[in-house]
Amino acid sequence: MVFQATTSAPVNIACIKYWGKRDTSLILPTNSSLSVTLDQDHLRSTTTSRADPSFTSDRLWLNGKEEIVKDGGRMSTCIKEMKRLRKELVEDKDPKAPQLSTFSVHIASYNNFPTAAGLASSASGFAALVSSLAALYALPCPPTTLSLIARQGSGSACRSLLGGFVAWEQGSQSNGLDSHAVQVAPESHWPTMHALICVVNDAKKGTSSTSGMQRTVETSPLLQHRIKHVVPQRMIDISKAILEKDFDSFARITMADSNQFHAVALDTSPPIFYMNDVSRAIIAVVEEYNRVAVETTGKVKAAYTFDAGPNAVIYTEEANVKEIIEMIVKFFPQQEKFKDPFGLFGAQGLG
Ligand code: DP6
Repeated sequence: MVFQATTSAPVNIACIKYWGKRDTSLILPTNSSLSVTLDQDHLRSTTTSRADPSFTSDRLWLNGKEEIVKDGGRMSTCIKEMKRLRKELVEDKDPKAPQLSTFSVHIASYNNFPTAAGLASSASGFAALVSSLAALYALPCPPTTLSLIARQGSGSACRSLLGGFVAWEQGSQSNGLDSHAVQVAPESHWPTMHALICVVNDAKKGTSSTSGMQRTVETSPLLQHRIKHVVPQRMIDISKAILEKDFDSFARITMADSNQFHAVALDTSPPIFYMNDVSRAIIAVVEEYNRVAVETTGKVKAAYTFDAGPNAVIYTEEANVKEIIEMIVKFFPQQEKFKDPFGLFGAQGLG
């Protein structure tokens, strides 16, 4: 008998950024964060897991290429934790259940977005890994429980296990059991919300999120201010904006948080620069677009946000998508990638 399962998980883009760990091995954050899970077919990782008594070790293939599963590494921690859940929740309760937790697993994962799209794949990758093992092991667990394990693969991955608007509550326990993802609102709550992805540069980033954020924790005084005095209120305010479908507030908080995240990167020693001239020009164009919108309606119409790289994500409501794409293409004629369908496309974020 073959024990095998395939599932997929999407990318998520944070509006309130996770940046900093208080525990680097359990991956416990210094602040809560909130993201939108992009529910589009072409922004997903798809993973197949197989368990077999003949397998002699846990093995992993990423986009067809075998990767080493390092003992004690993030991948092996996730696999070990999932085997533990299988034993506790299924095999210990039903002695007749196949003892899958004692078999090694072979895992194959594919990103269906071109790596050239320059999007981080670790969030969708670890979320897909955990959900495929959960399916293989027939675990009777809600996504929030699984998010505790995906978190130990990559912090942001815990948010990709849920759809729509998702908060990762930082928690306070040292064992991390209260540091998990919760859904603030499902995708169906705000179907007119869209995310546009502008690929400025698809090269691998200079400073990885993992090492960059630790350097920030060790050296940035601004991070301490952000953790204590800024993020807690922003989490409350953006959750309210989402529940009330108040785009103006949602957008202002999203832009402010992206800017503070990059300020904190700059406050790191040595400083980390993730945005480039094109990223900053996109900020200027969106700010000007919003200035005109505020003059006429009193409300902003778009929100930019940048992760640990130069690529922009622009959140907007459906009615403005066409106008914004035309504006970006017009202002950046030299950006070849904005013209191809993966360079700038409407990831129909929700709905
Ligand atoms: C800027 O989740 O990639 O995208 O936990 O070390 O794997 P690790 O870091 P990672 O960091 C993501 C940082 C971010 C902000 C965010 O997604 O919240």
